[in-house]
Amino acid sequence: MAKAERAAIVTGGASGIGLATVERLIGDGWHVGALDRDEAALARLRDRHGDTVRVGALDVTDEGAADHVIAEMAQAFGRLDGLVNSAGIGLDKPALETSVAEFRKVLDINVTGTFITARAAGRIMKEQGSGAIVNIASIAGMRGSKGRVAYGASKGAVAIMTQVMAVDLARYGIRVNAVAPGPVDTPLVQQVHTPQVRRAYAHHTPMRRYGTPDEIASAICFLLDGSQSGYVTGAILPVDGGFAGAGMMEIEV
Ligand SMILES: NC(=O)c1ccc[n+]([C@@H]2O[C@H](COP(=O)([O-])OP(=O)(O)OC[C@H]3O[C@@H](n4cnc5c(N)ncnc54)[C@H](O)[C@@H]3O)[C@@H](O)[C@H]2O)c1
Repeated sequence: MAKAERAAIVTGGASGIGLATVERLIGDGWHVGALDRDEAALARLRDRHGDTVRVGALDVTDEGAADHVIAEMAQAFGRLDGLVNSAGIGLDKPALETSVAEFRKVLDINVTGTFITARAAGRIMKEQGSGAIVNIASIAGMRGSKGRVAYGASKGAVAIMTQVMAVDLARYGIRVNAVAPGPVDTPLVQQVHTPQVRRAYAHHTPMRRYGTPDEIASAICFLLDGSQSGYVTGAILPVDGGFAGAGMMEIEV
């Protein structure tokens, strides 16, 4: 491949928000690498987009594998301008019924996994003197929502990690931001959101609907693109139909 003008890697790129981001970036002319632990979904992505996307199997909690595959992709692209950390899992379980193993697993993937890949990409971007990292936090990490003891803790950690890395990496020309989505219709949500949860979200969201993966991808691409968001770093951008900012609302849904 010829030296790319702009290249980005998306973890969790085979599904949901990550997949929508991969497809937007391809449409915007980026060279894109998608990393995911779901190899069948990666194969479907390759079938759909052919050589316009590089794919790699990765469990983001595997430090050695992440360092290796991110370096390999960056080398193939000749540069690395963006990293999107969309790999993540959800859990909706009452606090007193959540096991320590479940709590650790959610934090390991959502927090430590995000750290591992952000650090790997950040080291490459430091050499280059530029780059942008976008993490996926959540409204569940900003407010106390039922059943989110592990998931909410993980996303709160992603938000502060984003701000700390923005400070540490600014001197290398690297911006670090996060989007904090509200409920978005993706395979993850289809697994964990019962009809009751859907009604509750509609009740607490001024726009009264779920977001689409592409609406989140659009905000991610804004934060990746230095020509649009060049002075934005350490920001946690809610993309949530108004959930995080809402106060008292009418109760009719
Ligand atoms: N959908 C929502 O409502 C919502 C809201 C707020 C935040 N988020 C966050 O957005 C991100 C993407 O979620 P989504 O809804 O698109 O989910 P999704 O399940 O559709 O996609 C997540 C992808 O991450 C991959 N993944 C999971 N664990 C991994 C691991 N250890 N290593 C590598 N890949 C792994 C999965 O295989 C999957 O392809 C997650 O971090 C999630 O917490 C989602």
